Amino acid sequence: MTHDKSASERMEKIVSLCKRRGFIMQSSEIYGGLNGCWDYGPLGTELKCNLKDFWWRRMVRERDDIVGMDGSILMNRQVWVASGHEATFHDPMVDCRNCQSRLRADQLPEKDGQLYCPVCGSFDLTEARAFNLMFKTYVGATEDDSAITYLRPETAQAIFVQFKNVLEVSRKKVPFGIAQIGKAFRNEINPRNFTFRSREFEQMELEYFCRPEDGVELLEYWLKERLKFYEDIGISSDLLHVHKIPPEERAHYSQGTYDIEFEFPFGVQELEGVAYRTDYDLSQHQKASGKSLEYFDEETGQHFIPHVVEPSAGVDRTVLALICAAFCEETITDQKGKAETRTVLKLHPRMAPIKCGIFPLLKNNKRLVGQAREIVELLRPHMMVFYDESGAIGRRYRRQDEVGTPFGITVDFDTIGENGPSNQGTVTIRERDSMKQVRVPIGELRSFLADRIN
Ligand code: GAP
Repeated sequence: MTHDKSASERMEKIVSLCKRRGFIMQSSEIYGGLNGCWDYGPLGTELKCNLKDFWWRRMVRERDDIVGMDGSILMNRQVWVASGHEATFHDPMVDCRNCQSRLRADQLPEKDGQLYCPVCGSFDLTEARAFNLMFKTYVGATEDDSAITYLRPETAQAIFVQFKNVLEVSRKKVPFGIAQIGKAFRNEINPRNFTFRSREFEQMELEYFCRPEDGVELLEYWLKERLKFYEDIGISSDLLHVHKIPPEERAHYSQGTYDIEFEFPFGVQELEGVAYRTDYDLSQHQKASGKSLEYFDEETGQHFIPHVVEPSAGVDRTVLALICAAFCEETITDQKGKAETRTVLKLHPRMAPIKCGIFPLLKNNKRLVGQAREIVELLRPHMMVFYDESGAIGRRYRRQDEVGTPFGITVDFDTIGENGPSNQGTVTIRERDSMKQVRVPIGELRSFLADRIN
C-alpha cells in the first residue's frame, strides 16, 4: 500500500470515528450540510473544552503577566479598515469556465507547465482575482454602506483596540499580555481536510506587549513556551515542525515569524503562528482612531507604542491534531487466544473527554450496581465520568478505548466483600494504553485519578 493511500485511509477512519462516536459532525447535516462548517458532538465538545481550559490555565491563570478578555465578534468597520483587512485580506481566486468551480489560484495543480482545474481537469480557467475572505454583514435595519461590518476574521484586533482599557484596569507593566479565545470567520475559497480549513473556527490568541528592544528575544521565548504546551497536551515533538518564515514571505511589518506545524495524515500543516508584529497594529489603530495607544514607561520616563509578539493557535486544528496523534489501531489477543483489532485514542488524560468509565461487573446484581453508582456520585463533581452496565466487560472497555477514556473502574465481587474481606472496598482500575489493572481502595480513587488527569 502506498504511503498516500494508507494516509488517506487513516484520515477516513478518523473522520468516521469522529462522526460515529460524536466528536465532530457536519453542520446542518440533514439539509445537506454547509461547506466549511462543523458541529462538535458531546465528546468533541468536552475535548475542545479541555483544550481551551488548559490553554487558559497555562497562558492566563498560572502567570502574573497575562490577563484575559472576551471581545465581541462584530466590531466597528473602521477596525478592519485600520488593521488592513478590508484592503488586503485576500486570496487569489480563479473560476473554472467548464465546471464553474471557484478555486484558490495558488493551489492549482499543473500539467506541462499549465494550471488546470482539479475538479474536472479543464485548462479553461479565468484570470486570478482578489477575493476578500471576510464575511460582510449589515448592522441594524438598513442595508446600506454605512451599516457594513464584518464577522471578525481573527480575535486579535479586539485585543489591540482594547489595549489601553485593559492596561489601565489591570495595572500591568510591560512586558504583559492579553489573551483571548473566541470564534473567527473566514470565507475560505476551498475549505478542506475535514475541520483543518473551516469557514467558522475558534482561535486562542495572545498579544504580548513589550519594549521594542525585547521583541526578538520574546519571539524565541514564546516559540519555546508554545512547543512545550503541545507536549503537555500529549502531542509529541516528533510530530511537530518549526518553520521559520523567510523575510520575503513574512508580512511587511513582521520582524520574525515561526509556524508550528503538525504532521497531519494529509501532510505537514500549520497549527499555530508565532509572530513578532512590531508596533504595527497599535500604530495603525492610533493613527486611524486619533486616540493615543502609547505606553508610559515609569522606569525610563519614555512614552512609546509597545511592540507585540503574538502566538496565535487554532482550537479546531489543535483538536484535529490531538485526535490524529492519538488515533491508533492495535492487534491484541483476547482471552480465547483470538487476534482482534483494538481501536484506541491515546489522548493525554488531561485532554480526554471522559476521564473514567465506571462499570459494575454485572448489571443484574443490585449490590454491584449500587456500589458503582455511589462511585459515580463520588467522582462526578471532580471529573467527567461515564457509567456503563451493558454488555461484556471487555466490550465496555473497548468502547471507552475508542474514545480515549484513560481509566476504567470495575466494581466486582471482591469490592462488595463476597470473596472475603481482603479486597473489600477496593476496585480495579484498568489503564487504557497498557491495559494493566491495579486494585485501589474506593477512598483513594479521587486522588489517584486527580494526580493523573490534571
Ligand atoms: N492573528 C493572527 C492570525 O489570525 P493566522 O495564521 O491567520 O494568524 C492563526 O491564524 C491560526 O488560526 C492558524 O494557525 C490556525 O490554527 C487558525 N486558523 C486560521 N484559519 C483557519 C481556518 N480557515 N480554519 C481553521 N483554523 C484556522
